[in-house]
Amino acid sequence: MITFQNFVFLKSVVSIRHLPQQGNEVAFIGRSNVGKSSLLNAIVQKPLAKTSNTPGRTQMINYFHMNHDCFLVDLPGYGYTKAPQNISQKWLRLSMNYFRYSLFLKRVFILIDARHGIKPIDEEMMNEFDIIGLSYQIVLTKTDKISSTELQEQLKITTIFTHQHPACFPHVLLVSSEKRTGLEELRQHISDILMQ
Ligand code: GTP
Ligand code: MG
Repeated sequence: MITFQNFVFLKSVVSIRHLPQQGNEVAFIGRSNVGKSSLLNAIVQKPLAKTSNTPGRTQMINYFHMNHDCFLVDLPGYGYTKAPQNISQKWLRLSMNYFRYSLFLKRVFILIDARHGIKPIDEEMMNEFDIIGLSYQIVLTKTDKISSTELQEQLKITTIFTHQHPACFPHVLLVSSEKRTGLEELRQHISDILMQ
């Protein structure tokens, strides 16, 4: 069983040559500012990852380690249009190399802002993971920012998307780091995946 409070920051990696050589890991990705770092902090119940109002804050592959040789991985956000082109391309290249070459990555959680739903750039990621056969799952974030009717509608639309993508785990998770809802279910999923 994973004890989420035991996670500690391990290291930031700027090249895939420095990836850990053992252990299971799950990664969190999504458009810039979708709430990746906030969600990581919420699930481990302490501030590990830096959060910010400025999109593009996370710029490296950040590893958080715990017992059982398990890692949570926070990645740079994609699709931040204000970042200089060469920098955002560098982030994307680093992330894509990581997805292709990490031997221990068990699942990627793609975070989607519940207000906005899946955007073309998210679908590009999904298509890429379908091609390389990497298991991924959608998490709708910031659910506190919309009404429950809107959330149910978004859930319906998102679920239809998941059925069109072969590597996508069909169960969509709903979370709010602010209101701390949906976290236990997410922890359970992570635990099951890492302990498999
Ligand atoms: P980058 O690292 O820049 O890609 O951003 P990120 O995806 O890590 O987002 P981050 O966690 O830094 O959060 C971005 C902003 O959204 C911050 O102002 C957070 O306070 C806010 N935020 C994150 N999660 C929630 C949530 O569940 N509800 C609400 N209302 N705001 C949230
Ligand atoms: Mg971040």
